[in-house]
Amino acid sequence: MAEIGRDLALAAQLLETGEVVAVPTETVYGLAANALDPSAVVKIFRVKRRPLFNPLIVHIPNANVLSKYVDSIPPLVERIMAEYSPGPITYLLSKNDIIPDIVSSGLPNVAIRIPSHPLMRKLLESLSFPLAAPSANTFGYISPTSAMHVQHQLGNEIPYIIDGGKSGIGIESTIISEADGKIIVHRLGGLSIEDIEKVAGKVELVITSSSNPKSPGQLDSHYAPRKPLFLKENIKISRNRNSVGYLTFGKTPIYNYHLDLSPDRNPSEAAIHLFAYMRALDAMPDIAYIEAELLPEDGLGRAINDRLRRAATYL
Ligand code: TXA
Ligand code: MG
Repeated sequence: MAEIGRDLALAAQLLETGEVVAVPTETVYGLAANALDPSAVVKIFRVKRRPLFNPLIVHIPNANVLSKYVDSIPPLVERIMAEYSPGPITYLLSKNDIIPDIVSSGLPNVAIRIPSHPLMRKLLESLSFPLAAPSANTFGYISPTSAMHVQHQLGNEIPYIIDGGKSGIGIESTIISEADGKIIVHRLGGLSIEDIEKVAGKVELVITSSSNPKSPGQLDSHYAPRKPLFLKENIKISRNRNSVGYLTFGKTPIYNYHLDLSPDRNPSEAAIHLFAYMRALDAMPDIAYIEAELLPEDGLGRAINDRLRRAATYL
């Protein structure tokens, strides 16, 4: 099992010697290594059992160091960055040679994020290199939002997990790029489209799937529990139906196999609970399958629905 703690000096030391360390962020936990060291980065792919064609996000402490890693920052991206970074937003930017090809899977762009989690920021500020980090789950499974989630899945394969508490946003960052004076959203996430549009005007959605190599992480079946998950409208909770677990939005739970993302119908609260509740239902021995309902399709509800759809089983 990995050691779990808040020893940033130890974490930094491990990272400096090319080890992989799990780190907390406000979105989900990450599996981090020195982004400038290909032999450290390759360990991330190995531990996560992730295919090499799926590129990693590079985490930096602040916008001042950005010019070390990318050629240019387009104007709308700069505006969004000024408004929302640090935070749950990732930018695809034209990389320079200091970023190894393994990080971007050979693509000309590198994904860059400035996380806001205080421990992660402190760690990044103490290092002389940025951290490449995907979500700290095995490939295709649900992203972790606590140190224990990481421990359960990857604890045997990494030396240390920094415990930063429960992730405050709970779903991965929104991924954007800029082309021809327009923002393109590649992955829905913790920063809503509405918030982006406030500073950058109308965005275009290019939410790709497995067939598109531009964002190969957007595989159709992703963020998925091991048990089948079915999306249903107007779920009727029944105590008498054996072996069903329910995942709802805005319904007060009446028994153990029913988890509600936010009885007050607050999408931010739902995002915080989403992955933890999917894991919990997945782990309940009496439950054979899960029925889940979608949120209203706006704000963070869209990103949550995206995750639920990718988790769902279609017969
Ligand atoms: O919130 C987050 O973004 C978390 C935390 C740890 O920062 N990270 C995360 O990483 O979700 P990951 O690897 O699970 O998802 C990153 C996504 C993948 O879908 C990947 O394909 C895409 O970003 N991506 C990374 N670099 C890319 C690039 N150069 N071009 C296109 N897509 C890229
Ligand atoms: Mg992931």
